[in-house]
Amino acid sequence: MKGLFTGRIIRTQRLSPLSHLIVFERPRGFPDAAPGQFVSLRITSTITPLLRRPFSIMDLTGTELHLLVKVVGKGSDILAHSPCGAEIDIAGPFGGTVFPSPEKKDAVFVAGGTGLAPMIFAARTWKRDRSLGRADLVYGAGCEEELLVSLCGEDFTAVHSATIDGSCGFEGDAVALLEKLVEEGKAGGGILYSCGPTGMVRAMAGRAAARFSRHLTSLESVMACGVGACRGCTVPVKTDGGTVLRTICSDGTVFDASEIDWERWEE
Ligand SMILES: Cc1cc2nc3c(=O)[nH]c(=O)nc-3n(C[C@H](O)[C@H](O)[C@H](O)COP(=O)(O)OP(=O)(O)OC[C@H]3O[C@@H](n4cnc5c(N)ncnc54)[C@H](O)[C@@H]3O)c2cc1C
Ligand code: FES
Repeated sequence: MKGLFTGRIIRTQRLSPLSHLIVFERPRGFPDAAPGQFVSLRITSTITPLLRRPFSIMDLTGTELHLLVKVVGKGSDILAHSPCGAEIDIAGPFGGTVFPSPEKKDAVFVAGGTGLAPMIFAARTWKRDRSLGRADLVYGAGCEEELLVSLCGEDFTAVHSATIDGSCGFEGDAVALLEKLVEEGKAGGGILYSCGPTGMVRAMAGRAAARFSRHLTSLESVMACGVGACRGCTVPVKTDGGTVLRTICSDGTVFDASEIDWERWEE
């Protein structure tokens, strides 16, 4: 179902000094996508950046495709500052596994930084099809201006924010805030969904996640091909026959965090 498309930017919004919402007109024939999937953008026709850049789908409606873009280097900088009307080569949707629906159970979503994008897509999709119970978002960023709470709209029942510098909400990271909520009996028992820096997911997998029935996480990695060919994005996964290497781009991006061999994974 995946393919190559040309996406036209129809709206952009600067959300913070580094983060931008980029809305494309949904390309004709662009397939439906599920939470946890991503698109891969060839941002310029020049040789820098040469490789496609992956971005999680933050929303996909009948007419629009939404991406959250944080500027970290040349590719994201060009994309974030592209004008309305610009046409960009979009491949996808990619990702062989997606977040399973909570089937009306309660869910806690933990997002670090731009890991917010797939969490919003998940909550929004499941609210639309009425398969979400209570939905708590635990969301961490470096500082208040990078905390993009305004993006969440009505997607979650409650938003619990953390900043590393303490400028807004809980002082610390999303994992410490999740642990506090669990200790206070305000979270735990339902399904835990997460996306963010690997260190965040690793810390949760060893601690607070034990209080949830399942912990499903969308992993990120620097990607070259994005389609499972170069094997540059592997993660060790425990199976009955031992540990095997799976690609994040095509065997994932969504994994059961309890199946990842965290001790062997050196990102
Ligand atoms: C499945 C997936 C989904 C993603 N979703 C989003 C999203 O929704 N929004 C968003 O802003 N970004 C997202 N990213 C990250 C995004 O792809 C990178 O930030 C982007 O490719 C950087 O390109 P660049 O040319 O700007 O920077 P580069 O010049 O390529 O890199 C700048 C710096 O960022 C580091 N870097 C690049 N990619 C990653 C990565 N994946 N993980 C950790 N460090 C990295 C590089 O090592 C380098 O230090 C996602 C990545 C993956 C794999
Ligand atoms: S990026 Fe090439 S296999 Fe994943």
